[in-house]
Amino acid sequence: MRSIKVHTTNSTNLFLRGYYRNHKACDNVYVLAEKQTAGKGQMGTVWYAEEGKNLTFSVLIKEIDILLEEQFKLSALVALSVIEVLEAIEIPKLQIKWPNDILADKHKISGILIENVAVGAKINASIIGIGLNVNQLLFANLPKVTSLGAITGKQYDLEVLAEKLANTIETNVYKKQKQPLGTVLDAYYQKLLGYKKVATYKLPSGESLVGIITKVTPSGFLNLALETQEKQFAIKEIKQLY
Ligand code: BTN
Repeated sequence: MRSIKVHTTNSTNLFLRGYYRNHKACDNVYVLAEKQTAGKGQMGTVWYAEEGKNLTFSVLIKEIDILLEEQFKLSALVALSVIEVLEAIEIPKLQIKWPNDILADKHKISGILIENVAVGAKINASIIGIGLNVNQLLFANLPKVTSLGAITGKQYDLEVLAEKLANTIETNVYKKQKQPLGTVLDAYYQKLLGYKKVATYKLPSGESLVGIITKVTPSGFLNLALETQEKQFAIKEIKQLY
């Protein structure tokens, strides 16, 4: 896949959105930046990454054929692709924290921000942004965060990782998008933190809940079995403690 390297941009997701708007007929492409001045996390948060040490990149995948009502299929395929690449370089104890944070030994190593372009009832193109902590070794005041280097003591080439991730995502999306959603979800559940296990969750009000993840819905809601009922939550509505 073609790649674009930039030194500084506001956000690689925003960069690709602009690029796509101006090059509608382009092939799939990924962009990596040494520095983002306004890196975006999920739910309007900011994604911080030390300049030049971590992977901040986004992939544009076109000609996707996934129903919007099953949009979680794409999210699951991307998270599983990141795990596949990290497993291939022997990073141990990888898990997904719903919806698509990647954890290594219960520390966040990667975050994913997917922005879809829909046509009618289908996802047609997607901008898949990935932040992967790579060669940064210290994360001040972030005890639940880690990096490839912190885990293995090795240095990694960011461009090699970006190429592997982009190609693995592209291959898996095209190969698996027509698999039944249940098949994709089964693979996702195998890696999902808290799946069929008792865990504690926090509501925005500060209230704690104890529950068991029984499923994730096709559009990506978390289904928790609570003491007396089953309930579904959107990403803004609940936080899993770990
Ligand atoms: C999260 O866990 O909150 C998602 C973080 C996603 C960060 C990546 S870094 C590259 C791409 N560009 C952005 O602005 N965000 C994503």
